[in-house]
Amino acid sequence: MKFGVIGAGQMGGGIAQVAAQSGFDVVVQDVKQEFLARGQATIEKSLAKLHEKGRLTGTPAEVLGRIQFTTNLQDFADCDLVVEAIVENEAVKAQLFRQLGEIVKPEGILASNTSSIPITSLATASGRPERFIGMHFMNPVPLMALVEVIRGYSTSDETAQKVTEAARQMSKTPVECNDYPGFVSNRILMPMLNEAIQCVMEGVAEPEAIDQIMKLGMNHPMGPLTLADFIGLDTCLAIMEVLHQGLGDDKYRPSPLLRKMVQAGLLGRKSGRGFYSYE
Ligand code: CAA
Ligand code: NAD
Repeated sequence: MKFGVIGAGQMGGGIAQVAAQSGFDVVVQDVKQEFLARGQATIEKSLAKLHEKGRLTGTPAEVLGRIQFTTNLQDFADCDLVVEAIVENEAVKAQLFRQLGEIVKPEGILASNTSSIPITSLATASGRPERFIGMHFMNPVPLMALVEVIRGYSTSDETAQKVTEAARQMSKTPVECNDYPGFVSNRILMPMLNEAIQCVMEGVAEPEAIDQIMKLGMNHPMGPLTLADFIGLDTCLAIMEVLHQGLGDDKYRPSPLLRKMVQAGLLGRKSGRGFYSYE
């Protein structure tokens, strides 16, 4: 099986890594060489960590050797499954899928790792809606067990079956749900993170206190503000916008503080600053 990944950011890099760990031949694309280099460095660090703990089959070099890094979309022509993990923006993703629909062999399956954008709409853009699906990995991909599998309106049973099987081969647990804004994971998670940000804005407590209360009080592995920084505040805002627009209810309105921080370039861990500093 030849496995394609578009986007070498935190999710795309993680998906490419886990696919290669599972023995697939992988090609990963990003728009600039420097983004590929950054993605490769993150993969190398993660593989070294897993190897050190005896959790890797083979050596890091063997796994890395199965990943081809490219800036050229034509390299996806013979892929059996391509997972897209680029910026959470419907117009940008739709434009990419229009191109991939032309490039990837007709029997190839196209999947999106989108957090919230309607699968059915991206499927239409791809021109092959029966062979299109949502394959939503969780962050950090090498450590998290779930893949949320989202069928679009026209996704075929065969596509769902093949993608479910691929997720299992990657040692993940696939769980299916339907195509509604935010699916299940982010419809439930993201309003909680948004509410924590609203608590900061209203001065209910300091960020550290909010995180501690949720960690120690609810046994969450990360506090909500640490998690928002980890996901990326730009991604959190994009997801809240989709929920607000798609579901209509005011309870999904993005916190003004979240919007302001994104406008200021504070995107969390990936930009070096969010609710906490990572510099
Ligand atoms: N690859 C390999 N190893 C990694 C790693 C990675 N990507 N990330 C962390 N590790 C390692 C750490 O280096 C650490 O190693 P040592 O024990 O040798 O120090 C080990 O894993 C454990 O890490 P931590 O000590 O930081 O502790 P932890 O027990 O908190 O585990 C965690 C880390 C699994 C990330 C945990 O904090 C967690 O589950 N956090 C919540 C994650 C979560 O909610 N993810 C979902 C986000 S929402 C989403 O993904 C959907 C969306 O669309 C937005
Ligand atoms: P990121 O910002 O870390 O990485 C995105 C990458 O995509 C960047 O390297 C960027 O250069 C690249 N890119 C942008 N436009 C591109 C294009 N047209 N062609 C090729 N590459 C392009 O973002 P991320 O956190 O990895 O998120 C990627 C996707 O995964 C989003 O849809 C997001 O909603 C989803 N997702 C994110 C998380 C998370 O916790 N961050 C979890 C699950 C799903």
